[in-house]
Amino acid sequence: MAEQDTVAGRLAGKVAIITGAARGQGLAEAQRFAAEGAHVVAGDVLDHEGIHLDVTSPASWAAAVQVAVERHGRVDVLVNNAGVHAAALVHEMPEEDFRRVLDVNLMGPFLGIQAVVPAMPRGGSIINVSSLNGLAAQARTAAYTSSKFALRGLTKAAALDLGPLGIRVNAILPGVIRTPMVAPVVEQREAELAAGLPLGRIGEPTDVASAAVFLASDDSSWLTGIDLTVDGGHTASTPRL
Ligand SMILES: NC(=O)c1ccc[n+]([C@@H]2O[C@H](COP(=O)([O-])OP(=O)(O)OC[C@H]3O[C@@H](n4cnc5c(N)ncnc54)[C@H](O)[C@@H]3O)[C@@H](O)[C@H]2O)c1
Repeated sequence: MAEQDTVAGRLAGKVAIITGAARGQGLAEAQRFAAEGAHVVAGDVLDHEGIHLDVTSPASWAAAVQVAVERHGRVDVLVNNAGVHAAALVHEMPEEDFRRVLDVNLMGPFLGIQAVVPAMPRGGSIINVSSLNGLAAQARTAAYTSSKFALRGLTKAAALDLGPLGIRVNAILPGVIRTPMVAPVVEQREAELAAGLPLGRIGEPTDVASAAVFLASDDSSWLTGIDLTVDGGHTASTPRL
């Protein structure tokens, strides 16, 4: 009997690489994917239980794919989750900060796609974690917002290029999610942020992990190139008059 048939779960037998998996959303995805029966290769630059993977390094990507292939024979799912933020006014932001954010948030997923595609069979799924900042900006987010818009573009272009190979590429656009990245904001303004959302609460990492399971699974087999907002209804509303 094939391995897929012996393991229960929505991702039974699938091999998934998840970046930025030491904490926050990536950690929740790694835990949920494993619970759904996936073989998870969890990568991060931080020390953690998984492998060392710096998404800005092609050599690091090659090593991660090698680990997945040696352990499990292929890569069925790539979650490009790793991301960084740098806050500054556009005219004051140091050039190296702007480049660094683009390097991790945009070049990282690009390099990841290049690294995994040769090891990804038909039915593969690539998930790029963009943001509501891929749709609109706040002040002091020039680098982050630029990177997340561009990642949506990369998602759609890659969906066209990889569709003929049977590989799907989709983006998740989270709203405010309770993770270390936004901890100070949540600490100060959680009640206000929650009150502004139709569903009345901010997001948890597990909310994004559930959406990632859907896009990774065969339940989404006719979806490619989409933006899946996971935002408690944030983008459904305009300011109250
Ligand atoms: N938290 C939110 O409100 C929110 C909202 C929208 C989008 N996002 C996006 O969700 C994703 C996950 O963020 P999070 O909220 O869990 O943040 P987080 O800061 O808790 O986790 C990000 C992880 O990425 C890792 N990382 C950073 N640079 C890396 C690199 N070069 N190579 C490998 N790993 C690297 C970090 O070490 C960290 O473990 C990010 O892409 C972020 O931009 C977050």
